[in-house]
Amino acid sequence: MRSHFCGTLNTTHIDQEVTLCGWADRRRDHGGVIFIDLRDREGIVQVVFDPDAGEYFQLADRVRSEYVLKVTGRVRARSPETVNREMATGEIEVYGLNLEILNASETPPFQLDAHTQVGEDVRLRYRYLDLRRPEMAKNLRFRSKVTSVIRSFLDSHDFVDVETPILTRETPEGARDYLVPSRTHEGKFFALPQSPQLFKQLLMVAGMDRYYQITKCFRDEDLRADRQPEFTQIDLEVSFMDENQIMSVTEEMVTQLFDQLLGVKFEKFPRMAWHEAMERFGIDRPDLRIPLELVEVKDLMKEVEFKVFSGPATDPEGRVAAMKIPGGNDKLTRKQIDDYTKYVSIYGARGLAYIKVNDKSDLDEGLQSPIVKFLPLSVREKLLERVGAENGDLIFFGADKAKIVNEALGALRNKLGADLNLYTCEWAPLWVVDFPMFEKDAEGNWNSLHHPFTQPSCSVDELANNPGAALSRAYDMVLNGTELGGGSVRIHKQDMQQAVFRLLGIDEAAAQEKFGFLLDALKYGCPPHGGLAFGLDRLVMLMLGASSIRDVIAFPKTQSAACVMTNAPGEVSAQQLKELNIRVKKPVSAGTE
Ligand code: AMO
Ligand code: AMP
Repeated sequence: MRSHFCGTLNTTHIDQEVTLCGWADRRRDHGGVIFIDLRDREGIVQVVFDPDAGEYFQLADRVRSEYVLKVTGRVRARSPETVNREMATGEIEVYGLNLEILNASETPPFQLDAHTQVGEDVRLRYRYLDLRRPEMAKNLRFRSKVTSVIRSFLDSHDFVDVETPILTRETPEGARDYLVPSRTHEGKFFALPQSPQLFKQLLMVAGMDRYYQITKCFRDEDLRADRQPEFTQIDLEVSFMDENQIMSVTEEMVTQLFDQLLGVKFEKFPRMAWHEAMERFGIDRPDLRIPLELVEVKDLMKEVEFKVFSGPATDPEGRVAAMKIPGGNDKLTRKQIDDYTKYVSIYGARGLAYIKVNDKSDLDEGLQSPIVKFLPLSVREKLLERVGAENGDLIFFGADKAKIVNEALGALRNKLGADLNLYTCEWAPLWVVDFPMFEKDAEGNWNSLHHPFTQPSCSVDELANNPGAALSRAYDMVLNGTELGGGSVRIHKQDMQQAVFRLLGIDEAAAQEKFGFLLDALKYGCPPHGGLAFGLDRLVMLMLGASSIRDVIAFPKTQSAACVMTNAPGEVSAQQLKELNIRVKKPVSAGTE
């Protein structure tokens, strides 16, 4: 139908006759001349109809926003005063000779360039219109380039693309499962995979050696700006490689990706132990663009009068940490400090003590703070020395259980980085390594920090004797404070796998019932293996600088895990429920119970 895309026309096409197809972005009537901005995938070009076009001029007058048009015309240079430098095609226009209205459109629920004036729910309900916006179309095309570069990298490194089942059994990755009832097995359910973890390990037992898949994963968990219930992983697994080799090949993949698509050159990624990350940044995915650090001051606060500090300082699970904001005195008003105090309360912090260092040579009058009166001069002196305070600095404090202090100050650090624009560089990738194998939940049970198939870096006996001290052979790739991907060397021997299940409270019968197939496979010559999975949506989001994961997914779910366009999840017919042997309890609000 067409000879050219609208957005590709330029001065080299002058005097050529072209046929274009697209949507009417805008139509303007300038006293006897009609301008139509015609838009297609590649961009927008201005088409002009004057009365000489006869019947086509009449037709052009009937065109409205989002009508689908086929236009034939001649490309001509715009006069110098009408050149539009903002537009890629702004030096030319198409003089319309012929017009066909291929389809009309009702008035759209929002003007595409005024999308910010409607709520996101409207954009999501009419997603097909939202995706006509050049910005959204650009995001989807960029995503397609990302997967293409990754596929060619992995193909050239001898990875084999293998599909794994979507209807399967639970794959524990820490979220709830999405369940699908089985019609043919009454009362039984499939689980949608939280990841292809177990299948990719079985592919290693099968001798596939190097596997990858770009695939959907499903997790019923609380959603955040960078989480979706249904998201895509770039999932990899390899045999006979240790963690250094796996990190090296995946780092090379990400480095090439950024170079090819953004022209960004990464140096070799630094590595940081999990404990160091928690100690210095309060978080296991530190944003290293922000030059703020947590400093432990627990030892200084054991004896002070201030219970808020001395309590956690004498509690083995407590932490008292300071975070210095260089020049923060001038940067932060009292009101902002109050707002940050509210902000950290989201993370359970009961306050946010601070000291403004006006004159560090005067430990009495030179420090402005609601708490300094509780600290002896000797403590003040050591404190300022420990954080390296200078006049004009502001020091924040967190004192509580270590978990709360880390979460509160870790989040505050990110927020200050963004609010005060403290970033020292554009990109800061790193590997976080040496994670603990387990963490204790509130009930005192051990949970895997990654998943139960992760290899500990100690023996079965050492693990059983001191699970809290065991480290794992896991690694996370972090970029600008986002966990882009994570993986590990896996357990490939049955006794270790059983030991881990035991520690997690999965007894032998339950392990056999849920993971018998894996335990069996470990008996039949399972090679040492390991792998990693990247979150594709997060990767694309970061590369594009998008503020929401929904902006890089064609048809995302809302924050409440629904699709407002298709109205999914929806009700099903009584017949379907009967076939599945399911009876649905009506919600109480419906008044039936
Ligand atoms: P993990 O659970 O860390 O590891 O997931 C890997 C990566 O997937 C992305 N991700 C998500 N992205 C969007 N929405 C979500 N709800 C979501 N959850 C996770 C993150 C994360 O780093 N099987 C292991 C990998 C392995 O060990 O090989 C796994 O799934 O970017
Ligand atoms: P209060 O004694 O509760 O009035 O608190 C005195 C100062 O200590 C205030 O600035 C509080 O914000 C701060 N504060 C209180 N609890 C904590 C805590 N757990 N961690 C850090 N600062 C706190």
